[in-house]
Amino acid sequence: MTIKITGTGIGLPKHHVTNQELAEVTGLDTSDEWISTMTGIKARYICDDETITDLATTAAIDALADAGTSATDIDYILCATIGGDTRTPALACAVAERIGVECAAADLSGACTGFLYALDIVSCLIQAGRASTVLLICAEKMSAHLDYTDRNTCVLFGDGAAAVVVTAGSALKYIHVTSHPDTQVLSLANRMTGNSPFTHHRDEVGFVHMEGQKVFRYAVTYMEREVVKALATLGLEPDDVDYYLVHQANRRIIESAISRLKLSPDKFPMNIDRYGNMSSVSIPVLLHEQLAAGAIKPGDTLVMCAFGAGMTYGSCVVEWE
Ligand code: UT7
Repeated sequence: MTIKITGTGIGLPKHHVTNQELAEVTGLDTSDEWISTMTGIKARYICDDETITDLATTAAIDALADAGTSATDIDYILCATIGGDTRTPALACAVAERIGVECAAADLSGACTGFLYALDIVSCLIQAGRASTVLLICAEKMSAHLDYTDRNTCVLFGDGAAAVVVTAGSALKYIHVTSHPDTQVLSLANRMTGNSPFTHHRDEVGFVHMEGQKVFRYAVTYMEREVVKALATLGLEPDDVDYYLVHQANRRIIESAISRLKLSPDKFPMNIDRYGNMSSVSIPVLLHEQLAAGAIKPGDTLVMCAFGAGMTYGSCVVEWE
């Protein structure tokens, strides 16, 4: 017995910002041509008046409806996020309050690998008998962490949320998460300035900082390594997998994985053109869309693979139930 996903849902801001609008509003020296050629991104959702709790709650309600699960059946809410509307209480508590449930509720900071880190923990909770119906939510308001005068980063990311309902099952065949410690190449500085009279140091307001080329090289290396390791563990050939749902950070990173693994691009659905990089949210939104389109059927073998700040990375193999 492992786990299965019984329902999926998403929550998005209203404002869908094209590359052209982003360039016009920010006044940056950038263009639709540069962004779409170098990343595959054409647009992304950005919050105006929505909070991250709004997005996470919408995704949660959508996933519960899809699963046919009542909110009162949930015994654990785990949110993967780099930051909710408040540092404390956790985003999971804010969602619990909105949907009216009393259960365990906590957040996990796994950057872009957050969905896989959370799924790993959820599988442990369920297999240990510590939870039976878990609401796993990924939610990121990347726009709150970006410097919109930095064309190297602000064009890349988007806001959104996705949720899955997880119960006991036998769909999860393999999961592995790990990290290669490197805190310099991709980071978001703290905003814990406080006003303690006992400290002489004040944190500066923080923005996402990224050394793009280094992260690109990490991503290409780890994606291939993780997929090869997962397949070898289960005795699968790359072509035995129906779909690879991989982190949507850059179309060129995904194309590199396709060519290194010598696979058909049809096995790698992408949505980066419409969403940009939504960190932990990218994979569960992709899963939701593929299910809604009827592309994924029971018995299909899925590989999910992600990498992110840390550098965290990981993969899992699911036989869809
Ligand atoms: O989910 C977290 C993980 N994040 C990632 O996986 C991101 C990984 N990295 C990347 O996707 C790529 O490194 C980027 C898309 C961020 C950048 O592509 P690159 O091929 O590494 O380009 P670069 O950073 O070397 O920049 C090339 C040029 C530079 O100009 P000069 O120095 O050659 O004159 C940049 O200043 O492109 C310039 N540039 C831009 N130009 C127009 C950088 N950003 C922009 C921009 N518009 N938005």
